[in-house]
Amino acid sequence: MEYKNIVLKIEDNIALLTVNRPKALNALNSEVLSELECALYEIENNDDVKCVIITGDGEKAFVAGADIKEMLGMDAIAAAEFAKKGHSIIRFIRKMKKPVIAAVNGYALGGGFELALACDIIYASENAKLGFPEVTLGIMPGFGGTQNLVRICGEKIANELIFTGQMISAVRAKEINVVCEVLKDKESLMDRAFETAKKIASNSPKGVAFAKSAILTGVNMNLSEALDYESTLFGLLFNTEDQKEGMSAFVEKRKAKFKGK
Ligand code: CAA
Repeated sequence: MEYKNIVLKIEDNIALLTVNRPKALNALNSEVLSELECALYEIENNDDVKCVIITGDGEKAFVAGADIKEMLGMDAIAAAEFAKKGHSIIRFIRKMKKPVIAAVNGYALGGGFELALACDIIYASENAKLGFPEVTLGIMPGFGGTQNLVRICGEKIANELIFTGQMISAVRAKEINVVCEVLKDKESLMDRAFETAKKIASNSPKGVAFAKSAILTGVNMNLSEALDYESTLFGLLFNTEDQKEGMSAFVEKRKAKFKGK
């Protein structure tokens, strides 16, 4: 499929997905959301891809939110449908077998912050500003922000950010466990994202996918059920060629070559 608002580049087992609507600071309108959904589906079904990086074009914005100009004319039904479109992407990223890294290169606001929060790992450049300005627009976060932020930072921090609408720096976002690492500029941000993506891509795809499922599914279970789920997945990996290859390679003192089978 041809995309107008995003750029998808696949190289060396890594998919780089860039939201490319710089005139609107990469804001998410319905068309961008549809393209993102298609691209993520394409990536998930491409066996060559082992890891995904999402970023925004340029240095000013990752994504400055859902498109306010499009939302201005929406009625309640259209707005709820729009939120569901956002949820569909957030859910898809959480369920993808492949880890997704957000490289936050500037403003990540509203729906942009929500897109980043859905990703498995977040890196941010020093100029990044993250936040939920929705209440300053007479609305509230609608692409999963009220649910994901509270699960990551806890209720009090989530309340403070969502009720005030204030933006926070990348350093503050790291303090509250949203961001894994703060990099000095866009170049070092992308280098760091690719370094991590390459490490992930060299590991067993099934091991990584099952671990992602154990972490994300297990967190919503009680500990006893989650441990049962973990042991089931752990056991299933012993039916894979990758387990034989990984352990044989260790014993034979060579680097494992994983096939994802
Ligand atoms: N939607 C639509 N257009 C946007 C946009 C958005 N979220 N954010 C920026 N733009 C547009 C601006 O309208 C402007 O376009 P024009 O030149 O045609 O006027 C262009 O991008 C550049 O923006 P600014 O001139 O405002 O740039 P700035 O440097 O002065 O400010 C900013 C940057 C602080 C990010 C400011 O643009 C801003 O506050 N943007 C809105 C952020 C926001 O409120 N996001 C949340 C949206 S609601 C949401 O996301 C709901 C949800 O949960 C699903």
